Amino acid sequence: MAHPRSALINVMAGAATKASRKLVRDFGEVENLQVSRKGPADFVSTADHTAEKTIRDELAKARPTYGFVMEESGVVKGKDSSNTWVVDPLDGTTNFLHAIPHFAISIALVRDGAPHAGVVYNPISDEMFWAEKGQGAFLNGRRLRVSARANLQESLFATGIPFLGANKDAQFLSRLEAVMNQTAGVRRFGSAALDLAYVAAGRYEGYWEAGLCSWDIAAGIVLVREAGGYVCDIDGTKDMLSNGSVIAANANLHEPLTRLLR
Ligand code: IPD
Ligand code: CA
Ligand code: CA
Ligand code: CA
Repeated sequence: MAHPRSALINVMAGAATKASRKLVRDFGEVENLQVSRKGPADFVSTADHTAEKTIRDELAKARPTYGFVMEESGVVKGKDSSNTWVVDPLDGTTNFLHAIPHFAISIALVRDGAPHAGVVYNPISDEMFWAEKGQGAFLNGRRLRVSARANLQESLFATGIPFLGANKDAQFLSRLEAVMNQTAGVRRFGSAALDLAYVAAGRYEGYWEAGLCSWDIAAGIVLVREAGGYVCDIDGTKDMLSNGSVIAANANLHEPLTRLLR
């Protein structure tokens, strides 16, 4: 039987579902979208903006006092300073613009500075991942556990490859080399939120990436932790959300992966 969703998760999943309808209609119709560039290879389209507005309206209707951190429209302070929605309306914009069906809506609730609940929704595969602190992680109502693999040589990992305009390429290459030499493989799918959701689902054993923003990872962090995995910052600092670098893995491989990366 599908696990019931709490009122909070219903609000978040409802906002993601509503925003996804237009994304699905626009998917593969890039010629009808206006696309601009925020940085050398950081694209944004009317689809990102429309999805973000829908999510913001839905969340504000349900919890009028909460604040927002949104990728496209920035920070909106709320009356309630302890609860903030952290929203990426389209994680995997480059995939979306290339008609690759691997992208997601990511919505997190950050409470008193820590990720408290997260929803990551891929509308093409209709996979709704959700988790709430202390309540477990779920995919379409089915409980999630990270994988049990303990051997690096049998394990599959994911990362994000820096693109045009990103720096620290040498560091990325040495980390990639360290992991690829010791493991069964490394994937680059193009959505940080789904990468974390896939670790929670036990699809791959671990994931690392640097140079991310809070909206890429806040929801996925809750998913991995509630599925029994570990997440920390690559450099060992405490503040992953502002630092934007993550190592996520199952409980057996988090330490070995961290050793390869540091
Ligand atoms: C991007 C994706 C990608 C990651 C980039 C992010 P966006 O998010 O998560 O996997 O490698 O660093 O910026 O821009 O498509 O929302
Ligand atoms: Ca972006
Ligand atoms: Ca993103
Ligand atoms: Ca985005």
